[in-house]
Amino acid sequence: MKIAVIGATGMVGQIILKVLEERNFPVTDLIPVASEKSIGKKIIFKGDEFEIVSMQTALDRKPDLAMFSAGGTTSLEFAPKFAAVGTTVIDNSSAWRMEADKKLIVPEINAQVLTKEDKIIANPNCSTIQLVMVLHPLNIKYDVKRVIVSTYQSVTGTGKNAVDQLNDEVLGNKDGVKVYPYEIFKNALPQCDVFAEDDYTKEEIKLMTEPKKILGDDTFNITATAVRVPVQGGHSESVNIEFENEFDLDEVKDLLSKAPGVVVLDDVKNNIYPMPLYSEGKDEVFVGRIRRDISQPKTLNLWIVADNLRKGAATNAVQIAEYLYQNKLI
Ligand SMILES: NC(=O)c1ccc[n+]([C@@H]2O[C@H](COP(=O)([O-])OP(=O)(O)OC[C@H]3O[C@@H](n4cnc5c(N)ncnc54)[C@H](OP(=O)(O)O)[C@@H]3O)[C@@H](O)[C@H]2O)c1
Repeated sequence: MKIAVIGATGMVGQIILKVLEERNFPVTDLIPVASEKSIGKKIIFKGDEFEIVSMQTALDRKPDLAMFSAGGTTSLEFAPKFAAVGTTVIDNSSAWRMEADKKLIVPEINAQVLTKEDKIIANPNCSTIQLVMVLHPLNIKYDVKRVIVSTYQSVTGTGKNAVDQLNDEVLGNKDGVKVYPYEIFKNALPQCDVFAEDDYTKEEIKLMTEPKKILGDDTFNITATAVRVPVQGGHSESVNIEFENEFDLDEVKDLLSKAPGVVVLDDVKNNIYPMPLYSEGKDEVFVGRIRRDISQPKTLNLWIVADNLRKGAATNAVQIAEYLYQNKLI
């Protein structure tokens, strides 16, 4: 397949290339795209050198598939242009996620809704993906009523300049790039992305809207607080889930351990629980600290960790591509 990777030099784009290589996706022709300043630079894929080209050059070559991770503005402008030349687009930005005629896909949950007619397919927000991977099996069994999620998000979720800001601050370099409104080293910022309606950030709004679309269920409520922390390996989430129905704790652990792509790490006697340091580079969503909320019935507390660049972005996008390819939808 002829594949364009848009944003090939970025945090997500680099991991998309790595995951395509690791999973041996049938790439016969790779077209890497980045901003004007990177055109002509080389990247290595499967041992071969490929030159970064412009968006227009990629468009002219009519790829079978274009994997976008170059920001919402780029996706809004160029995804329809690729779709118009027959390319299927998998988009990592938030540009199309909540559009009624665009599918928002986590393959373990809802890939079956995809058809040949879907030319722009949205990859969910990184914090959303790890949340729904755990909510989905529990919702089927116990019917979720309300979710309270608080996140502890890696700087890798903001892109390569944010990683540079943290590393500069660790080294005491005061002249480096700044992407956050405050220092991130030794700090926790209760702000991921910009503020929007009702004083929620855009990240929190994504967490409150995208899960309902992916699960195909708008009968439950979610509230979110998203916090940026000086961590690089992945996002962590403290989640409180109230169900309509009573649950058994052992059954919850059993259900989660059988859910595809989910790994239960929960042995508090031996200090075993998920952490971002150990989720880095892994594709699974890790869940632990699974316990009853003793303040009210039918309510569970748990802790979810995943590498936001892998299952939260690149791996999920490549899994969508694999589903399309295996089912002859591209
Ligand atoms: N980081 C995450 O965990 C995560 C998770 C899910 C979704 N996303 C989404 O994925 C996208 C990329 O995020 P990132 O973290 O990879 O950001 P990043 O590290 O800042 O990389 C941005 C990439 O986009 C390219 N780019 C910028 N403007 C462009 C343009 N006008 N035309 C073509 N390419 C352009 C950059 O090229 P240059 O190198 O030439 O500047 C770079 O390759 C964003 O929409 C983000 O919301 C990120």
